[in-house]
Amino acid sequence: MTYRALRVEEIDGQFISSIKELSLEALDVNDVLIRIKYAALNYKDALSCIGNKGVTKNYPHTPGIDGAGVVVRSNCEKFSVGDEVIVTSFDLGMNTDGAFSQFISVPKEWIIPLPKTLNLKEAVAIGTAGLTAAIGAYKLLANGQTKGNSILITGASGAVGSFCVKLFASIGFKVIALSSRADNREFLLSIGANEVILKSDFEMNKKKPLLSPQYDAAIDVVGGEILENILKQIKPEGSIAICGLVASPNIQTTVFPFILRGINLLGINSVEITQELRQQLWHKLANEWKIDLNAIIHEHTLDEIPCLVNTMLAGKITGRGIIKL
Ligand SMILES: NC(=O)c1ccc[n+]([C@@H]2O[C@H](COP(=O)([O-])OP(=O)(O)OC[C@H]3O[C@@H](n4cnc5c(N)ncnc54)[C@H](OP(=O)(O)O)[C@@H]3O)[C@@H](O)[C@H]2O)c1
Repeated sequence: MTYRALRVEEIDGQFISSIKELSLEALDVNDVLIRIKYAALNYKDALSCIGNKGVTKNYPHTPGIDGAGVVVRSNCEKFSVGDEVIVTSFDLGMNTDGAFSQFISVPKEWIIPLPKTLNLKEAVAIGTAGLTAAIGAYKLLANGQTKGNSILITGASGAVGSFCVKLFASIGFKVIALSSRADNREFLLSIGANEVILKSDFEMNKKKPLLSPQYDAAIDVVGGEILENILKQIKPEGSIAICGLVASPNIQTTVFPFILRGINLLGINSVEITQELRQQLWHKLANEWKIDLNAIIHEHTLDEIPCLVNTMLAGKITGRGIIKL
């Protein structure tokens, strides 16, 4: 039997994506075989599609770090044929063939049963972006942030950013969305931002170690100069949760925001969290933190992924791309 998947191949030093018919027998090596119904596009998938060896070492390869579908074969007691399940993070789509495919085969530890309050499309729309936002919320709340506080969210139009805007607005924060794109202002206000600041208007000052304190908290997906200047503008005892590097992985800072304002810099790693916290956060995302994602998601086919990847790498994607298999 064969199945369709988006395959990335290295040909003469170039990484080329195309849809291939592959043999299911060659894939079926792990505990559980899942027929994927929906996948989602993440920044890491875009990097895997262009041959980023920090994400994927060996090609040919099928990217896709988020998938949701139905179990079609199981070697373990925990899952039975017909179960609806989600797989995100771990090694899926990195060095294990991922969810831009009609089938995946994965170890049982990577699988989360679909929460009763979600359907497969809603679950994949949450996926890594939602889990990342939830880890950020969990850490900020644990460090003293509460509803009513102001939070700056960078890369606000993207997958993690737009999810954060919706989630923090629903928790009751005053959300300030930082975006590079003026044409996304209405979109960001419509999904819950109280205010939109354009990147070109954001206060940046290379010389001063501290700027006037503006925000109780922040979530940053951008890194680089933006993060350097957020550090200078967080109010005393405030916190920044960081997860991304779309602009740059490098920052230059002084110790002053930390020793004069007592701020906290909190890291988010959606791959390396305990299974207990992962399940706790999925429970929250499916219940008290469940948000309507219809305004954020846009649905596509496998064939459209290469084009979406180019848009994403150009920093021009809005919301969360969902792939229907
Ligand atoms: N640590 C973790 O566990 C974890 C998990 C998920 C994602 N991430 C990381 O988080 C980042 C965002 O992922 P994503 O899936 O949300 O990506 P995405 O959908 O492409 O969103 C990124 C957004 O950042 C803004 N942006 C892009 N290039 C920029 C630049 N050069 N300078 C300033 N802003 C820029 C754009 O929003 P605007 O147009 O609104 O500015 C863009 O939509 C990536 O670095 C990803 O690897 C980390």
